[in-house]
Amino acid sequence: MRKRIIQPAKQLAGGVEPPGDKSISHRYAMIAALAEGVSELRHFAAAADCRSTLDCMKALGADVKIDKDTVRIAGRGLRGLQAARRALDAGNSGTTMRLLTGILAGQEFVSRLTGDASLQKRPMRRVVGPLREMGADIRAREDNFAPLEIRGGRLHAIEFNMPMASAQVKSAVLLAGLFAQGETVVTEPARTRDHTELALEEFGAPVEKSGKTIRVRGLAAGNGGAKLQPRSLDVPGDLSSAVFFIAAASLLPDSNLLIHNVGLNPTRTAILDVFASMGASLQMLAVRSAHGEIVGDLAVKGASLKGGVIAGEQIPLLIDELPMLAALGPYTEQGIEIRDAAELRVKESDRIAALAENLRRMGATVEERPDGLRVEGRNAGKLRGAEIEPYGDHRIAMAFAVAALAADGPTVIRDAHCAGVSYPTFFDDLERVAER
Ligand code: S3P
Repeated sequence: MRKRIIQPAKQLAGGVEPPGDKSISHRYAMIAALAEGVSELRHFAAAADCRSTLDCMKALGADVKIDKDTVRIAGRGLRGLQAARRALDAGNSGTTMRLLTGILAGQEFVSRLTGDASLQKRPMRRVVGPLREMGADIRAREDNFAPLEIRGGRLHAIEFNMPMASAQVKSAVLLAGLFAQGETVVTEPARTRDHTELALEEFGAPVEKSGKTIRVRGLAAGNGGAKLQPRSLDVPGDLSSAVFFIAAASLLPDSNLLIHNVGLNPTRTAILDVFASMGASLQMLAVRSAHGEIVGDLAVKGASLKGGVIAGEQIPLLIDELPMLAALGPYTEQGIEIRDAAELRVKESDRIAALAENLRRMGATVEERPDGLRVEGRNAGKLRGAEIEPYGDHRIAMAFAVAALAADGPTVIRDAHCAGVSYPTFFDDLERVAER
């Protein structure tokens, strides 16, 4: 699929179920490969990114069987992974590369880890630094970029005060902590998603949380023979994928959409608070718990959105949702302003530049700033259909497909298959619930 054409729609109606959560799927797959025995992971993310994680774990010796959206992984135990024959390929997935670097830092063999052109441009020093402090020998291109060469080995615990709010950095250090002598302590400057902590607990690792500090005791380095237990788990639907449908349904006044089985972990739901504060009609139904995680259904109706400013400690809690929020800006009363989000420039694309360029292609008024952007609201004029260049970034492609539903005339999304990085059936699901 190269191009996808999106025609304007009147409303969204019916029901949709997003694919399994990408962040949780990565973690369950990696930790299952370190457990002793067979784990069953149901509703595993269909995302290409999570397939990269499965391929890497397989290359490291775990037995991985995929049957539709159920993945069975026979773990090799904390000391059972083996050197891969070739360089491990994380594809487009920053989470695969950063979390796996944490695990490989604790292995007594040499690994090489690489990724696609986009991933080779993303900064890795943020994980390489603390892992070196723990005793790993890691080489990186220009000391910051993939390919990485990781000579793992005996690690010692550190107390790490994270200089930045990043769930991936936190997770890399906690996973390395499993292999370290002593207790690894990580303190975050602001809260980030806590799926690693929850998953480690679920598989039986000794993790303690208090405020923004997380502690994990090393298991591999002689801790009374402690090990990780295999588990049978259901992955909640991905809220970050559901957000495209929340936005689309909100945008079209007569919409009435039910989104089933969505992960509602409180470290991910800041986006729902933003939608609510902007006047969206959003109801959580049938909220239940699932292995430490929370899931529920979301009922969304069309609404007039106010817009507003998103900044500060909110940013890391809704970092992946900022493209969608920015692309909604022209349809809001006051516009959308995003600050303190320079991190967006080193995601799958430079998302600030990609948003500004594509919003302008549709006729929006945008001010691009080093750490965010300001998008003018409705009074700057209606958007018109345009040709969108996602720069290979799944969330840019999906955000503009949604913006296109309320524009004048059709929109062409170039290179639309990049949505498969997180959501392979996105365009078909959107067409199914869009009424014209
Ligand atoms: C993720 C954390 C976030 C997010 C990414 C997934 C994770 O990155 O943007 O899509 O699964 O831990 P940072 O932790 O680098 O902000």
